[in-house]
Amino acid sequence: MRACRREEVPYTPIWLMRQAGRYMREYREVRAKTTFLELCKTPDLAAEVTVTAVERLGVDAAIIFADILLILEPMGIELEFAESEGPVIHNPVRKAGDVERLRDVEDVNALEFVYEAIRQTRRALKPDIPLIGFCGAPFTLASYLIEGGGSKNYVHTKRLMYDDAGPWHAMMALIARALAKYLNAQIEAGAQAVQLFDSWVGCLSPDDYREFVLPHTREVIRNVTPGVPVIHFGTGTAALLESMREAGGDVIGLDWRVRLDDGWQRVGHNVAVMGNLDPVALFARPDNLRAQAKHILDQAGGRPGHIFNLGHGILPETPVDNVIALVDMVHEMSAR
Ligand code: CP3
Repeated sequence: MRACRREEVPYTPIWLMRQAGRYMREYREVRAKTTFLELCKTPDLAAEVTVTAVERLGVDAAIIFADILLILEPMGIELEFAESEGPVIHNPVRKAGDVERLRDVEDVNALEFVYEAIRQTRRALKPDIPLIGFCGAPFTLASYLIEGGGSKNYVHTKRLMYDDAGPWHAMMALIARALAKYLNAQIEAGAQAVQLFDSWVGCLSPDDYREFVLPHTREVIRNVTPGVPVIHFGTGTAALLESMREAGGDVIGLDWRVRLDDGWQRVGHNVAVMGNLDPVALFARPDNLRAQAKHILDQAGGRPGHIFNLGHGILPETPVDNVIALVDMVHEMSAR
């Protein structure tokens, strides 16, 4: 929390995106008994996997176990996580007319299971471990909503954006309204910071980002409960960093395709940064992993406002011992 506010800290704090996931035996054991969606919707299990990851790794923050796509269900979207296929949406938005059947999420009580998981997690966590809430950013959510799943070229998404700018903006505004309410309900339940995941925004040109996305992301961030730090994260964003900064956030997430020192310079030293180790570095030998981590700490140069993280989520095949080793290395090498 102090790093989010760019205050001095005794060592650089670290947590990892997707820290509760399939690379961890304890997660696979819980997950073996239920589907991914059911796990998200069962607060005591979601709280359990959240807390287990923190305790096993020794990280400095928890992120609530949930998924960015859960908010789509109350909009009238039929969501499924097919084993080994990832998310599938059965009724994607393809034409301008489809936008009209999206439901404005008037109240976010449909996601009560997330808030209950947050309350239970907060009770179970040590008091000095902050709990992060999150949502997908409007563009990344729109891309799933329109493509119906993951995508390589985002053809349907961009076609709607270019050809039907009116319905596009209406849809993005509807998503942004739902997200602000959702984040604030997470905060009310006990989330102490929130993160927007704009995982796929890097597929856009800088001008398209500014025209079709920035105003909506800004609207979400502007409406977050004052005083609660916002982490604004995306990948492939080397060409978008100044614009993402303009959209907002107290902490900007950087991936490994930019140098941390260059990225920080570009967003400005009046904002904190998070990142930016390549998740694949966790597959290297310990001495090489250490060198990679040190290189990032050196670029941060002890400046207040750096939160160590990966540049994207942990991969399912990652050796858990290397993750634990990374956490220890960062704490040790950054001790002031
Ligand atoms: O970081 C954490 O530990 C919190 C939990 C979390 C999950 N998803 C759990 C999850 C978070 C923060 C997310 C965010 C999320 N979900 C994103 C943005 C982050 C990113 O990685 O870019 C995206 C794009 C999604 C959508 C999503 N959910 C996809 C594409 C998939 C399938 C991909 C895959 O790895 O299989 C999921 C499923 C998912 N979400 C899993 C987990 C642990 C794996 C599900 C399983 O147990 O089978």
